[in-house]
Amino acid sequence: MMSGRIPSSFINDLLARVDIVDLIDSRVPLKKTGSNYVARCPFHTEKTPSFSVSAKKQFFHCFGCGASGNAITFLMDYNHLDFVEAVEDLAAFAGIEVQREKDVGIEQPEKKDISHLYNLMGSVAAFYAEQLKQNPEAKKAVEYLKVRGVSGEIAKSFMLGYAPGDWNSLSGRYDTKDLLETGMLVARDGGGSYDRFRGRIMFPIRNKRGNVVGFGARVLDDTLPKYLNSPETSLFSKSNEVYGLYELLNAKQKPERILIVEGYMDVVALAQFGINYAVAALGTAISKAHVDLLFRFSKEIVFCLDGDSAGRQAAWRAMESVFSSVKDGRIVKMMLLPHQHDPDSLVREEGVDKFEQRMAGAATLSDYFFGQLTADLGLGTVEGRAQLVEKAKRYLELLPYGVFREMMFAKLETMSGMGSLDVLSKKAKLNFGRPRKGTGQVMRTSPARVALALLVQNPELADLLEQEDMDWSHLDFPGCEIFREIMSVILRQNPPNASVLLEQLRGHPDEKLVNKLATMELLVPEDGVKAEFLGAIKAIVSGSRTIRIEKLIDKEQSEGLDESERTLLKKLLSSSN
Ligand code: UTP
Ligand code: MN
Repeated sequence: MMSGRIPSSFINDLLARVDIVDLIDSRVPLKKTGSNYVARCPFHTEKTPSFSVSAKKQFFHCFGCGASGNAITFLMDYNHLDFVEAVEDLAAFAGIEVQREKDVGIEQPEKKDISHLYNLMGSVAAFYAEQLKQNPEAKKAVEYLKVRGVSGEIAKSFMLGYAPGDWNSLSGRYDTKDLLETGMLVARDGGGSYDRFRGRIMFPIRNKRGNVVGFGARVLDDTLPKYLNSPETSLFSKSNEVYGLYELLNAKQKPERILIVEGYMDVVALAQFGINYAVAALGTAISKAHVDLLFRFSKEIVFCLDGDSAGRQAAWRAMESVFSSVKDGRIVKMMLLPHQHDPDSLVREEGVDKFEQRMAGAATLSDYFFGQLTADLGLGTVEGRAQLVEKAKRYLELLPYGVFREMMFAKLETMSGMGSLDVLSKKAKLNFGRPRKGTGQVMRTSPARVALALLVQNPELADLLEQEDMDWSHLDFPGCEIFREIMSVILRQNPPNASVLLEQLRGHPDEKLVNKLATMELLVPEDGVKAEFLGAIKAIVSGSRTIRIEKLIDKEQSEGLDESERTLLKKLLSSSN
């Protein structure tokens, strides 16, 4: 049973209550310098500290790698948590309980405690591992693993086991109800139950925290089905778990890349050869949830799939699942294996070096994507190019806003000879004036940018504008849409600081930009903030007047103005600002 949504009012209160300085200091010791706190950045390797935490904004920012965000973002990135997990941990840090929305009228069942089921699964896995060592019947399983080149050490690190051939090796030992609930027993129609897994080599599937949530089980001969898997249970969902993640994290907290393969034995065999950063989808298609889970631990994902036609189809489907997750800085590659090989057989035949060379030479997402599309659509004809645009756009539009998206669209524009395909991205992108080169770093400033940055960093400034009684609907300047949106969020939610304000914009197309504004160094003294802000607003208003005048004059020349437009133009021209 799913527990209810966490209300955003709770999240805002939580963010307002916790001091991000305390939170981060408890994980990464901070040093006070001026009004900020600094440390060596936990998100990249560096010698001198460029990671800074602002108590006022309740925001962290690294000048080195660009990481930034509020307390929730910090926990998500630092502890590899998803959003809800991070909120839960933050609440625990603050010593308060997470509030959940209740569906009105429906009794919400108490959140079920399933820790005893985790304990049971852990015990069963230990029992199977023990059987592999002790049970004389398991000799042929040990022999089988030996023949396949699996060492005792690797078997131990994957906690491999053996399920005896009896129909009832588990039921006497553990609670029947719990065994049924975890799918370890199968209920008989006429009552009673029997062991689901018998006479098989057992592969415990552990979640990222190390809890056993299910099993894969292989026969020792050619009997079908070759593998049995745990059914979906309250502990285990195939589309959310991958095999080998816990073992991978044990070996490497921050793997440079994660290889996604198809089979249990592929993961085990690769680890045997020292490639201990592979995971397998559990006999299902690779899902977006899988990909998002893995991107929490590594920036690069390599799909490693069979070269046969089923593998090629799987590769295309895997790519579809990944598009909406390829944020800037993330890398996806496609490694298609030669016919008749899986990673297990290939690494044994070719050795690690060759295998890693293949991996390094795997196609980038962009090459693979355009390569596949153009393979069947001839680009020599207008029709072919039009089809390419049609097909490609549907995918590219799934990409998150950012440089990668822009580059993919640019490539499509070049290939097709058609311009301006990425309408949405262009709309979302804000061009605040010309970039001005500073020392090393490019810093763009314009009144709109300054005003917006000041507003994000000091949400209370919104009151000033309310007092000024300005007519926003008539303003026209680059960035006015996001300016209006932020104003309305502030007036609606009254966030006490930048951290709470930015929480409202999590997942917004302009989230990145607003984050940047929050961390922009404005070098305005505390007591000069209001004046600076009002000055910038004044400049916007006068710039806006110029833009409107230009637009009206353009229109006058192209199609003419109507009566009210002519009056407006006169008024604008005669007013001094
Ligand atoms: P493979 O048949 O490629 O498995 O299926 P494998 O890991 O290479 O097995 P070996 O080398 O013959 O021992 C790939 C994956 O598909 C799922 C399993 O997750 C398997 O690892 N599968 C396959 C099943 O769930 N059931 C099956 O009967 C077969
Ligand atoms: Mn295999």
